[in-house]
Amino acid sequence: MNTRQNDPEQERRTIHLKVNDKDYALAIGDTVGAVAPSDTLAHTLRETLGLTGTKISCDQGSCGACTVIMNGKSILSCMTLTIECDGARIITIEGLADPATGQLHPLQQAFVDNSAFQCGFCTPGILMSTKALVDQNPHPTRDAIQHALSGHFCRCISHYEVVDAVCQATTTEGDHD
Ligand code: FES
Ligand code: FES
Repeated sequence: MNTRQNDPEQERRTIHLKVNDKDYALAIGDTVGAVAPSDTLAHTLRETLGLTGTKISCDQGSCGACTVIMNGKSILSCMTLTIECDGARIITIEGLADPATGQLHPLQQAFVDNSAFQCGFCTPGILMSTKALVDQNPHPTRDAIQHALSGHFCRCISHYEVVDAVCQATTTEGDHD
């Protein structure tokens, strides 16, 4: 990981990211700690920055596990090249809890309250999609919540508790049958 440089040539070979309010300047190249042109954002977050809360499951854009928020929108980090992200503001699952107190984000607490946890691969991405949703729409309908979750696929349990959790966190009125 490099510090910010003033050399224009070096700047052209550097990717600047703000991840969870922390600034990173990453060299482009093949050296340790650098970003290779083929590196995905998921790879960079996990392997270069050590933010392993973002999961890689299918690694081909099908499951939603790798979802993070970039510039206010949920994106699939396994389908995004890091070199395309210069100047981006990124939030990962590590950025949800209050950094000063460690208190869970209200969405995380609602997931706890509603037993809404899927497996460890699915939950971080689902939380990031719901965070992106409520940032845009603080009081989403159940339909809007279900739509926001529609890109997340798992083979084991239902999303009903997840929808209930988001309803609780956003005080959305709805049918909880
Ligand atoms: S790991 Fe990115 S969509 Fe499945
Ligand atoms: S909850 Fe993760 S695969 Fe089903």
